[in-house]
Amino acid sequence: MSDNPTVYLNGQYLPLDQAKISVLDRGFLFGDGIYEVIPAYAGRLFRLPEHIDRLEASLKSIRLNSPHSREQWAGILEPLLEPGQDQYIYLQITRGVAPKRDHAFPEHIEPTVFAMCSPIVPLSGRDSGVKAITLDDTRWALCHIKAITLLANILLRQNAVDQGCTEAILVKDGYVTEGAASNIFAVLDGILVTPPKGEEILPGITRDVILELARTNDIPYSEDIISLEALKTADEIWLTSSTREIIPVVELDSEPVSDGKPGPVWQKMHQLYQEFKKAQS
Ligand code: PDD
Repeated sequence: MSDNPTVYLNGQYLPLDQAKISVLDRGFLFGDGIYEVIPAYAGRLFRLPEHIDRLEASLKSIRLNSPHSREQWAGILEPLLEPGQDQYIYLQITRGVAPKRDHAFPEHIEPTVFAMCSPIVPLSGRDSGVKAITLDDTRWALCHIKAITLLANILLRQNAVDQGCTEAILVKDGYVTEGAASNIFAVLDGILVTPPKGEEILPGITRDVILELARTNDIPYSEDIISLEALKTADEIWLTSSTREIIPVVELDSEPVSDGKPGPVWQKMHQLYQEFKKAQS
């Protein structure tokens, strides 16, 4: 992919180095916006209707009218894709450029819409598993909104990276919520468990695909709270996201998870996920 790919900004397709926004954009000044990350396999957007549902839910939560209809989004995003490639679209919508910096919503401004496409690069070492640490979930109270305001997530992820880990697993009041940029699954007493949806977590699209695959393939699962104590005795731990798919965690807080290798339920789900992707594209 070129260093200067074509991107979309406010109705125009133009080279990345020519895409410019005002310093008065509320995304820049306040982090006042939301985003989506949508994978595309073999050049076809994966689970687009579900991503658009979540985009619309995020917009509604921040009281911003959607600048485009459901049908228009596909028409805007598809020209950014390269045929046959595995890529992802980053789509960001901010409240727009206001004449002055004021926390309250300005009147009569147009949202800023930006989208770009990047290659999906599989996480190195994914198939042999990664290390994670647990940290206090220091984020705000509305984590179901895919807000661009990600300072807490960034600090948490960097803390994990500084300790040689791939992800931070977040803990609130003794219960696991999700990763800094991923959802979490654990295999506990033979059951695949993931925390229920709510304001504490992002409703992950990958998470939903995994639950669907568990249901259709008779893998016992439940959407239930996971205590930190239970996580520490889990047979398997996975982290899931659109860009990284399903990553097995083989070391948690410097202790091996089971025998320190990706487990059999992960092997099975990873295979099902790859087959599902192929069938969709
Ligand atoms: N993040 N939880 C958080 C906090 C996330 O940031 C993400 C994804 C997920 C997984 O959601 P999905 O399966 O729909 O990708 C859960 C994206 C990839 C990002 O911020 O780049």
